[in-house]
Amino acid sequence: MADRFPPDIDMDTPSIARMYDYLLGGKDNFEVDRVACNVLLDRVPEVFALANDNRAYLTRAVEFVASRGVEQFLDLGAGLPTADNTHHVAQRANPGARVVYVDNDPIVAAHGRALIDDGRRTAFLHEDLRAGDGILDAPETRRLIDTDLPVCLMAVSLLHCVPDDGDPFGALGSLVDRLAPGSHVIFSHCVTDDPAAGEWITEKILSFGTPWGRVRSEREAEAAFAGLELASAWTDERDSGPRTVDCATWRHPERAPLRRPADPDVTLWEMAGVAVKR
Ligand SMILES: C[S@@+](CC[C@H](N)C(=O)[O-])C[C@H]1O[C@@H](n2cnc3c(N)ncnc32)[C@H](O)[C@@H]1O
Repeated sequence: MADRFPPDIDMDTPSIARMYDYLLGGKDNFEVDRVACNVLLDRVPEVFALANDNRAYLTRAVEFVASRGVEQFLDLGAGLPTADNTHHVAQRANPGARVVYVDNDPIVAAHGRALIDDGRRTAFLHEDLRAGDGILDAPETRRLIDTDLPVCLMAVSLLHCVPDDGDPFGALGSLVDRLAPGSHVIFSHCVTDDPAAGEWITEKILSFGTPWGRVRSEREAEAAFAGLELASAWTDERDSGPRTVDCATWRHPERAPLRRPADPDVTLWEMAGVAVKR
């Protein structure tokens, strides 16, 4: 089995991309990833819904931004290809949409290049969020994305994978700085209002040897929107209620936007919001 994978793929340590794939019902994961997920699920069962709600949020958010006429998407921390990838969603709304996927995990890069990269309207870049200009100036990006026109920058369920000393919010901000007015940011981040629960998850994931940042508070995660204007979290653009919400409720056709899950026993969720650069 090891022969099927490039040598830089570590099959003995759980990877966030493969664990997330397992939670979404995918097949691109190893025993070590499944065991790690089950350790988390035993203590924090909401992790399963959180992953699936996050992916559904990504779809709604890409539909929303594409419907605003944005044609270029830079999907950072894209994850393993799944049933409905960003370019599928964006191109349903706008057949001319172009997507550059970026991820630092070698197995994601291998699958992404094989399954997604067509070199014309989609490309895959094996790079780290913290590469900054190295992302925007990479030939793959420059071929498909013109930063003089609005871009949708996606950091969905990504920044909690990066520790504070990697300055994930600074890295995101420096990419936003280079984008044209009318650009959008699609964002979600794993947050908690129970610091002990957040620390437990963070320490558990780090104990697997998996590269990871930490669960943060909503207030910390809101740094992603500095200088940006948040869109309404309602499908009808209503100007009331929170704009950064539990991802399960962001522009959901049948749910009102809620800042956190209604069940007080659920203390971990993906805080989500979409913002525009004016
Ligand atoms: C939880 S998955 C989210 C996938 C997708 N964005 C979604 O929300 O469905 C996080 C992804 O970020 C990638 N990742 C983690 N740290 C990264 C970094 N520093 N630079 C680029 N990608 C990173 C992981 O490899 C993984 O594929």
